[in-house]
Amino acid sequence: MPGNSFGQIFRVTTFGESHNVAVGVIIDGVPAGLELSESDVQKELNRRRPGVSEIVSPRAELDKVEILSGVFNGKTTGTPITMIVRNIAFEDEPYEIIKDLPRPGHADLTYWLKYGHVDYRGGGRASGRETVARVAAGAIAKKILKKFGIDILGHVIEVAGIGIDPEKVTFDAIRNADKNPIRCADSNVAEKMVQKIKRAKEEGDSVGGIVEVIALNCPAGLGDPVFDKLDADIAKALMSIGAVKGVEIGAGFRLAKMRGSEANDQFAIDPKTGKIITTTNNAGGILGGISNGMPIIARLVVKPTSSIALPQTTINLKTMKEAKIEVKGKHDPSICPRVVPVAEAMLALVLVDHMMRAGYVHLTKFEESSSLK
Ligand SMILES: Cc1cc2nc3c(=O)[nH]c(=O)nc-3n(C[C@H](O)[C@H](O)[C@H](O)COP(=O)(O)O)c2cc1C
Repeated sequence: MPGNSFGQIFRVTTFGESHNVAVGVIIDGVPAGLELSESDVQKELNRRRPGVSEIVSPRAELDKVEILSGVFNGKTTGTPITMIVRNIAFEDEPYEIIKDLPRPGHADLTYWLKYGHVDYRGGGRASGRETVARVAAGAIAKKILKKFGIDILGHVIEVAGIGIDPEKVTFDAIRNADKNPIRCADSNVAEKMVQKIKRAKEEGDSVGGIVEVIALNCPAGLGDPVFDKLDADIAKALMSIGAVKGVEIGAGFRLAKMRGSEANDQFAIDPKTGKIITTTNNAGGILGGISNGMPIIARLVVKPTSSIALPQTTINLKTMKEAKIEVKGKHDPSICPRVVPVAEAMLALVLVDHMMRAGYVHLTKFEESSSLK
């Protein structure tokens, strides 16, 4: 079965390849009456696009969104929303030279093995460019969540072995992480990360890292056990982003080293709200696949960028003989900062869908949605 759609009620289908006419998204399930303009979407796309700093790809992609359907007089109409971003700044030539040489670390070989006939230019459908569509859809999801006071944050917590302790940074510092090019909440550590990335780039190499995404003010009760548990849906959403090779929720892999007495989040009453809270958040806001009202926290491992200038060994698919390849072109020496808005978008898509499934968002008319209070 094709796998280009995501979500049950807020249903997103992305389309397009890196070097074709456009990439885009159709979203079915957005209720009528939500105020929406291209600038709402553009500001999120501007956070994802390359060419914005010296540590991301210098490709000059403007990524200007066009809303083709589903919005009339500044508001959604309840009909499918189609958004496209035209591909204007691509170069086919570097890919013609290596079209029979699958790039190590890329999806070239597996697409060729599975489909045979593949648009190999720029990674085609497997290109990071596909995430334009996710970020565009996520902008609408974020806008709906914001109406309920739900805030989605994201930042880079580790690059090339240089990291911060995410439990020691404030939510406000994370909100300001976009102010440095690596999107790390601690600007001193950010500088060290940038130096590591620059060094890798000079050496024709690349580095990986870890991105954290957080949802604040989510109501308790989101998630449908047993197969649509909230953590299971978040893991799938984040893992579907290119270059992501690991996902953890809350304390995640660190739980393996803890005792139960350390790992269990104990319950207490919040004196301000009278609601049940936990004194720690090792569960990352989710118990039994259902949100518990604490911040939802997920982390993603981003592998080092596959496209590197250093010589590597591959197979020539025409001759079936070993060959050497050096990947030319304008690539991100670390994908981490660009993954931040994509991961935020995927978390927003999961949460808006579950908010709809839980009955908070009216499925037809947005203004009849019920508030969290
Ligand atoms: C926003 C974004 C930008 C990316 N840019 C690049 C890039 O410039 N060069 C590259 O080799 N991979 C890039 N990737 C990663 C590849 O798309 C991905 O590694 C490849 O399709 C193989 O898939 P996998 O790593 O998930 O197995 C990017 C991914 C994302 C999400």
